[in-house]
Amino acid sequence: MKAAGVSESGAPYDLPSLWEADGAAPSIARWERRRERIRESFANAVYGHTPTGGRLDDVTVVSRRADALGGSAIRIEADLILAGPLGVRRASLLVYAPVSDTPVPAFLGLNFWGNHATTTDTDVRRSDAVEAVAKAHGSPPTERGSDTRAWPYPLINGRGYAVATIWYEELEIDLPGYADTGVRGLFGAPSGLGQPAWGAIGAWAWSLSRALDALGAIDEIDQTAVIAVGHSRLGKTALWAAAQDTRFAGVVSNESGCGGASLFRHVGVEDIRVITTARPHWFTPRFAEYRGADHLLPVDQHQLVALVAPRPTHVASATDDPGADPYGEFLSTLHATPIFELYGSAGTAPTDLAPPGADLATEHALRVPYPTPGVRVGERLSYHLREGRHAMVEEDWRHVLDFADQHWTNTG
Ligand code: GCU
Repeated sequence: MKAAGVSESGAPYDLPSLWEADGAAPSIARWERRRERIRESFANAVYGHTPTGGRLDDVTVVSRRADALGGSAIRIEADLILAGPLGVRRASLLVYAPVSDTPVPAFLGLNFWGNHATTTDTDVRRSDAVEAVAKAHGSPPTERGSDTRAWPYPLINGRGYAVATIWYEELEIDLPGYADTGVRGLFGAPSGLGQPAWGAIGAWAWSLSRALDALGAIDEIDQTAVIAVGHSRLGKTALWAAAQDTRFAGVVSNESGCGGASLFRHVGVEDIRVITTARPHWFTPRFAEYRGADHLLPVDQHQLVALVAPRPTHVASATDDPGADPYGEFLSTLHATPIFELYGSAGTAPTDLAPPGADLATEHALRVPYPTPGVRVGERLSYHLREGRHAMVEEDWRHVLDFADQHWTNTG
């Protein structure tokens, strides 16, 4: 059975089903068997297989300040040693946690420009990789404090949550041709026969799981309440990490778009041809076989969102961000909703957004209106459309924190 829908342009799309075509009634047991198959299909067709044999070898706290952010926060820097069958590499974890008597929930996400860029604190280490990464891109080295807008630590800590981050390019340089010198270089060829090789998104997602391991060594953080978060390519990464690693208590995808939260079958600006031309290294090579044939991909992104159920999942879009296809992101939450409902929790629904009097009983209901900017809809599966451009900004975090407050008791 396929979920039929009507895209914004009126073109019909047929989504791969959440269910086996055996006609049996939906049940949690049935879904949990099916879920494994869908996850395998994502590994086969999109992201590649995460190899076995990797681990977090060591965590060393290299600095701890109890007087961060004017005395309201604790700041920790730690060295993580990531290991695979072929070697080890170091990654720097930066944590800001509110002062609290008990461990607090935390957001864990990769950052774009370096830990030193997320803060104006002059004593946060600048990665040794800054020059090499700048050289590889032919761009100037990233500057301290240049990315603080995306990481409003005082706001997040003030609401009772810790936040932990690693620079994604310290893990693997984000260009084709760098697989051997990054996290993927710690591993040999795929471990299983016929398993397609992983792409950089897979390697970054694996690293997020190792960072989650490391948070077990940080007393300030409740390791059972760690929410994967990411913007854009790092939102794709957060979703794939949470889909694979059920220890993530939830996930936040900010404008993750193509290969993230948006449906391939809802045609936006970016499709498989565009993304695999510009960023071939993000995915398994097999993904490029679907260029021009997005509708033949065995999976679609509502299934990726569903893989995270029933863990709290928040998808955020921005109105002036056609590249990430806000409507396609909303549609994937809509089509993942039946799985959240199976577990007794609400997702997004046309009823949240349709004008009064809309005929919700018919397929016409799938012609859902464009989500209303500023109104967060859904509960365990939630969606928000912000006015503005492609970025993760304080306003996004405010909605993320409101969402998180519904699911995690915070002590802030
Ligand atoms: C590019 C890419 C998108 C991605 C974005 C980002 O625009 O095509 O798929 O989400 O970069 O990560 O900022």
